[in-house]
Amino acid sequence: MTTNPQVPLPVIHSAIREDIISNLLSWYDENKRPLPWRGAEPYAVWISEIMLQQTQVISALPFYDRFLKRFPTLRSLAESSQEDVLSHWAGLGYYARARNLHRAAQIMIENHDGQLPQTAEQLEALPGIGRYTSGAILSAAFNQQRPIVDTNVVRVLCRVFGLPGDPRSTHNQKMLWSFAEQLVPADRPGDFNQAMMELGAVLCSIDEPGCERCPILKHCAAGNSADPSVFPEYPANRPTVTVTHSSAILRNDTGEVLIVQRPQHGLWGGLWEFPRVICEPGEPEIQAAARAVSEYIGVETRIGKRLAKIKHTVTHHRITLYGYFAEIETGLLSETKIQEKGCCRWVELSKLRNYPFSSPQTILREHLLIANCL
Ligand code: ADE
Repeated sequence: MTTNPQVPLPVIHSAIREDIISNLLSWYDENKRPLPWRGAEPYAVWISEIMLQQTQVISALPFYDRFLKRFPTLRSLAESSQEDVLSHWAGLGYYARARNLHRAAQIMIENHDGQLPQTAEQLEALPGIGRYTSGAILSAAFNQQRPIVDTNVVRVLCRVFGLPGDPRSTHNQKMLWSFAEQLVPADRPGDFNQAMMELGAVLCSIDEPGCERCPILKHCAAGNSADPSVFPEYPANRPTVTVTHSSAILRNDTGEVLIVQRPQHGLWGGLWEFPRVICEPGEPEIQAAARAVSEYIGVETRIGKRLAKIKHTVTHHRITLYGYFAEIETGLLSETKIQEKGCCRWVELSKLRNYPFSSPQTILREHLLIANCL
């Protein structure tokens, strides 16, 4: 175990450690959910762990199957276009994960004989793989005695050891990784890590932990206190920010619609959308939709009927997206002007689904297609 001499890390008594491991594994054997990535080959384990980084199991399941059908091997993923990869990620959110996955597959083809590397150092040098994900891959796919600490494991460990304070603090992160490292057994490390996550997901829940059914209750400080849900002691949430976005649906003489691609980095990087702006305080949504067109292609538009109003929450942003039909009024744009911008494209309605859109813009696109019976 790597220890920092300035931070004395508690050592788990060996008898308690053994009892926690054996009780947890027995419980897991009897209660585990049949999830498709359990026992899968390393490539599929990696895909699942990237999907599960910011997505719950229930939401990831349909995407996992669809993604592996389309990209069954590491090579097929590496050789696909980024747009194809993003299309199969659309709806999962946090698209940097898909771009990193694609890039990491290409690096593994170039530098690792098309295989997942089997050391933490090499794995963590790949885009999108940090300490948690490398531990999950090495233990689940390669049977290595590596710890993991994800949000479910944080909850279980904070409760078992009655860890006070914000679990994200540097000191508590050291404590949590040390506990996880001490606990993970040489025999069945992957199952043990899955069992910890499973316990956190199905029994040791945030608000109503099912302590009476917990296999390690006798070793749990919180479970034997008046209110186990006090742990982990996260500070109060960041306040939610409410924002309004407005998009314009602009069609040309041949019925094509204008879409624009977002910059590669940042929120919804590389995805497509209808020209959109964030409304200024007090700015009417209709006016903002006209501004969206003007900012992208420099022409004045007349804004028509509202197509949709969509609500979407991402991190701590609560977004309301308005979509308005728009018509060109003056200074008819030339194709050249649009070509120069690079990020703008006129697309036939029937081809719109070939472009990866962000979640709220996908809903707007579907409203448009339904309105046109497509
Ligand atoms: N969360 C993160 N990785 C997971 C896994 N492999 N199984 C269940 N939940 C998870």
